[in-house]
Amino acid sequence: MSGVVVDGLTKRYGSVTALEDVSFEVPAGEFAIILGVSGSGKSTLLRCLAGLTDPTAGEVVIDGEPVVGPRPEVAMIFQQHNIIGDLSAYGNALTGGMSRSGFFESVLGLQNEEEKYRALDALDTVGLLEESEQKARRMSGGQQQRVGIARALVQRPAVLLADEPVASLDPGSSQTVMRYLRTAANERELTAFISLHQVNIARKFGERFIGLQGGRKVFDGYREELTVDAVDDIYGDIDTEGMFLDGGRPAETEVAR
Ligand SMILES: Nc1ncnc2c1ncn2[C@@H]1O[C@H](COP(=O)(O)OP(=O)(O)OP(=O)(O)O)[C@@H](O)[C@H]1O
Ligand SMILES: [Mg+2]
Repeated sequence: MSGVVVDGLTKRYGSVTALEDVSFEVPAGEFAIILGVSGSGKSTLLRCLAGLTDPTAGEVVIDGEPVVGPRPEVAMIFQQHNIIGDLSAYGNALTGGMSRSGFFESVLGLQNEEEKYRALDALDTVGLLEESEQKARRMSGGQQQRVGIARALVQRPAVLLADEPVASLDPGSSQTVMRYLRTAANERELTAFISLHQVNIARKFGERFIGLQGGRKVFDGYREELTVDAVDDIYGDIDTEGMFLDGGRPAETEVAR
């Protein structure tokens, strides 16, 4: 389990400010959702957490260590799940151990028994054990995203990052994927940061919420604090009424902790 501290994080691209003085602390094991309109800085924040983008100012500290580049205990799941279509679900999951066993070994399946066990265990966590031999390209978008999650889990991370993992999925598949993500994070005691566009799904599965607007943090709180007004603050002038299918009441947590 690793706690995450973000302190005065600022990222500029020339004259564009992607993040401006963002600070928060997320304790180990928390499931945090990052909300904000397009361009608000969600991906930039996740990339800074992953060590894929260097901040202009400020820092990210994970488990007491400042982030200066990618590290194995921090895994990132991308929206376009960079799954290898010709490999089976199992073959794809195995590539998650690539940083340990090498690229060719992972693609050719030359891993040791422990790596193989980890891949099957991760597929089991995302409910795909029975489909493990199926070619990834024959799977649905939601299943492929679950393969992407399994691959991240094989890395044995302490921190799991996902940038809009359900953006291209229908509402039903989105919920299924989010349910597996949340369950995986709970079971494996991971600290998670997930960026989402869908406020309803965020409220259903999230525990902690960070709202960004124009690169600034405009909300930081837990589910009961994410009221209709708070969502309005995050999304500005956009009509947010439809984002509250539950009428703005704090939803029951989908996954018990
Ligand atoms: N590599 C880059 N070079 C220049 N500007 C960038 C770069 N990456 C992001 N930006 C800018 O930084 C701002 C924040 O972008 P970011 O991708 O973090 O937003 P986002 O919230 O993830 O948006 P979306 O919901 O569309 O994915 C935007 O104005 C974007 O144009
Ligand atoms: Mg983005």
